[in-house]
Amino acid sequence: MRCSLVLLVSCLTWTTALLTAPTELKYLLDPPVYAEVIGRRGENATLPCILKTKPVHYKVKWTKLEPGRIGPENIVMISNAQASKRHGKLGPRASLRRAHNMDASMQLSDLQLQDGGTYRCELINDIEDESVVVTLRIEGVVFPYQSRNGRYKLTFGEAKTACEEQDGVLASYNQLYRAWTEGLDWCNAGWLQDGSVQYPIITPRPACGAEPHPGIRNYGPKDKNRDRFDAFCFTSLTTGSVFYIPGSFSFEQADQACGRQGADLALVGQLYSAWRFRNYDRCDGGWLRDGSVRFPIGTPRVRCGGLPGAGVHSFGFPQKSSHLYGAYCYKQVLKSE
Ligand SMILES: *[C@@H]1O[C@H](CO)[C@@H](O)[C@H](O)[C@H]1NC(C)=O
Repeated sequence: MRCSLVLLVSCLTWTTALLTAPTELKYLLDPPVYAEVIGRRGENATLPCILKTKPVHYKVKWTKLEPGRIGPENIVMISNAQASKRHGKLGPRASLRRAHNMDASMQLSDLQLQDGGTYRCELINDIEDESVVVTLRIEGVVFPYQSRNGRYKLTFGEAKTACEEQDGVLASYNQLYRAWTEGLDWCNAGWLQDGSVQYPIITPRPACGAEPHPGIRNYGPKDKNRDRFDAFCFTSLTTGSVFYIPGSFSFEQADQACGRQGADLALVGQLYSAWRFRNYDRCDGGWLRDGSVRFPIGTPRVRCGGLPGAGVHSFGFPQKSSHLYGAYCYKQVLKSE
């Protein structure tokens, strides 16, 4: 093969690919049916891992890979032909599918927000080990969160707590990136799970930084204990439902109105979840449990706050005594056992 200058780059890539091409696996199907599995909180997911040849003696070890983790690997389950031993925090929700005798796929039940990530299925044989990796993505929604005391008031630890109090967790970079591709444009920087501080911009404007192109703006790692920003939280499906009670309530009256219906004022994450997963759309400002007033818009319209975009819009944190708003309530649906 001759490499002209123009072709040089692709020739080099081609040569490198040959040198680093993985050797074909003997026992495991690779690629593993699909490389990414998608689930929502509360649902079950199956991470595929299929044998194509069965060694006489073997074990299958499932691990969650955590880049940057110090210490022993995060084993979820080790199985042999007969039995499985489950480990760690994920263990109790994990099981081997065993749909047929070549099936080493892992089922995870009742998915949680933190379950997303990369998992390794490893076949351990007397002679050689083989593995494939599968990514689990929790489908959800990213929402910016600001303290009631104003912009840029949260340390990293406070941001983490703030997300948890709103039924979420701090978002990962990948979650923020995906939210940006789906339209999230936010001109305030917020903490992410990895301790970096970033914000997503779709329409560049001078107030939001000098860069002329859309993208995620990155302030890089910051001092977790001293620097203060907002937060980007991530949440997913909820088991309960959100509903609105019209009225001109103070915060306290709104809280009582929900209580009379056997519900609580909704958390910010619950309202975002309803907006994202149940197309909840309502042109009325209502109190939430954190003392903010918001409304969810799926189909933007002029006569609804005049705001251009779909999203959950915020009136901030009004005086709790002002009698101007309805109530967004959240009611848990009891699981029948
Ligand atoms: C999810 O997994 C659990 C535990 O294995 C099982 O009891 C439940 O029926 C599953 N749910 C669905 C929807 O498959």
